[in-house]
Amino acid sequence: MGLTRVPGLLFGGDYNPEQWPEEVWQEDVRLMAEAGVNLVTVAVFSWSRIEPGPGAYEFGWLDRVLDLLHAHGIAVDLATATATPPPWLVRAHPEVRPVDAAGTRLEFGSRQGYCPSSPVFRAATVRLARAMAERYREHPALAMWHVSNEYADHTTECFCEESARDFRRWLTVRHRSLDGLNAAWGTSCWGQHYTDWAQVEPPRKAPGPVNPAQLLDWRRFSSDALLACFEAERAVLKEVTPDVPVTTNFMSVLRDLDYWAWAEGEDVVTDDAYPDPADPRAPVKAALSYDLMRSLKRQPWLLLESAPSAVSWRAVNVPKDPGVMRLHSLQALAHGSDGVMFFQWRQARYGPEKFHSAMLPHGGTGTRQWRETLALGADVRRLSEVAGSTTRAEVALLLDWDSWWGLEAPESMPTDRLRLHELLLSWYAPLHARGVAVDLAPPGRDLSGYRLVIAPNLYLCTAAHADALAAFPGQLVVGPFSGVVDAADQVHDGGAPGPLGELLGVRVEEWRPLPDGVAQEVVTADGTVLSARTWTEWLDASGAAEVLARYRGGPLDGRPAVTRRGSATYLSCLPEDPAPFLDELLATAGITGVTGPGLPAGVEACRRGPYLFLLNHGTEPATVPLPEGDRFTDLLTGRPLPAGAVTVGPCDAVVLKPRPTPEERA
Ligand code: GAL
Repeated sequence: MGLTRVPGLLFGGDYNPEQWPEEVWQEDVRLMAEAGVNLVTVAVFSWSRIEPGPGAYEFGWLDRVLDLLHAHGIAVDLATATATPPPWLVRAHPEVRPVDAAGTRLEFGSRQGYCPSSPVFRAATVRLARAMAERYREHPALAMWHVSNEYADHTTECFCEESARDFRRWLTVRHRSLDGLNAAWGTSCWGQHYTDWAQVEPPRKAPGPVNPAQLLDWRRFSSDALLACFEAERAVLKEVTPDVPVTTNFMSVLRDLDYWAWAEGEDVVTDDAYPDPADPRAPVKAALSYDLMRSLKRQPWLLLESAPSAVSWRAVNVPKDPGVMRLHSLQALAHGSDGVMFFQWRQARYGPEKFHSAMLPHGGTGTRQWRETLALGADVRRLSEVAGSTTRAEVALLLDWDSWWGLEAPESMPTDRLRLHELLLSWYAPLHARGVAVDLAPPGRDLSGYRLVIAPNLYLCTAAHADALAAFPGQLVVGPFSGVVDAADQVHDGGAPGPLGELLGVRVEEWRPLPDGVAQEVVTADGTVLSARTWTEWLDASGAAEVLARYRGGPLDGRPAVTRRGSATYLSCLPEDPAPFLDELLATAGITGVTGPGLPAGVEACRRGPYLFLLNHGTEPATVPLPEGDRFTDLLTGRPLPAGAVTVGPCDAVVLKPRPTPEERA
């Protein structure tokens, strides 16, 4: 049994039958069966059609949809339908609508417009979730609950009075007293000392930079406020249908929500991924987000939404060329997804997403899109046995949301060019290019299963984080501007790297961010010259650290740039290409890519259980050496492959399964 009650890999998409006359539903299920669809997500935005008036439910249409799907062997990821509050609710209770940082209450007429802290909104969602759970608890099509939709999409935060009250309650738990809050927020700066809780407000639009500690707490609170909405619905679902898995769909590498905390409440981690076909870095960015999803619960996850071709919400919505939908879908499977799902099944005829691609396009079944949908369904069936298999990574990249929020505080940092997603990619991309499996991990997690741990940035670093890193026995790399502040965004005594000082054996005297377009030379001990951009530091390594590279030229000439103490390496700059350090670290840690050295450029290699996925994102055929002695069958074609090497066509993939040796067969 897979992630849900459906065996094997999942294939399907969002299905919005309420946008179509019922006769179309018959065609839908017939074509779904033809394409091999075994799961659809239903009712995501259906609140106003299920409960058109307070407590007045109209389940009839949804009953018929679920019965019809079940009759055709299609299971349902059933939404609680709470993503968009209906007109009657927002008109009766205007305070349900969110307020932006400038104090404007946002109008109805789009979607997902709600105040996360509104007790009226929360109570209404819980009522509907209960009604849905009680109605469909025994329905044989029900495979999974889909709570709300993409929390933090459209509404990330709300600045209304109710949210302010909720924020104060949250702050009282965190800081206990007003004295505690004043100390943590450093309110002696700029005359912000509070003498009454009622004076404390969300960080609304102000004349100048907002207190960064206040903003950090606000981001923590806003993630928690949305999480409370999810948890309230989840509790009801677990009470009524304890055996049905619950999910809410995540949004890849998203800054706004602390997904480590969120994943605890997910039975199945699900992700919506929309890599831009026009972006040459799309495959590597997607791979990073898929590895994050797999790492959240360290188990297979599900790609719940992706675009068959173009989306409709970018300035320019470039379609996927022939074969790209397939390749990108196989990529998600390679990184641990137990299925491929799309937004959406049938292309809409109206609304803001009428030009968004779908599995079944406006042009119907005589189209390239439909042919590719059918072919992909067949591929997914061929790979069915991959479901449930897991990935073992020896490298972990550290990601901490508190630190991310602190690092990207506006208008108060040495530079606004340090963006965590880019810093993660700067290490992830070369590892990916070498076919090295990577997990993401929070700094407090037990890291003992890894051989190499990289913290691209740990701006906010507590003593507990530092202790966890000091206890890690393998190779550790810490990137620049780390160990700067504590949990309250206050600079550590003595400056950076604060609690990491002992471990790294260095002290930072001065930040030296570089203007755009300016490069700083860095020379390694063996004479390799590298170019650093964006950031450098004036470092004192006169303690116990060995110097691996020095700056050359300018005011930093001759000063340490990269250091090592024991097995802990510190980079005080951002080399354009960290390869010289990375290759040495991988060699020291005894880590190789899954196919060994020599993975051609543009080819992605991932091992999942016994299966080896090779995906060629390039425009030329590529020959990949195979692990010596092993013999494989390509699961996609069923053909045995010659030993030694395999050639993968452009925009194509092979999924290799080891063939038993004659002795094993006997
Ligand atoms: C997602 C959303 C879907 C659909 C999709 C289009 O963000 O969850 O409902 O709008 O984008 O790309």
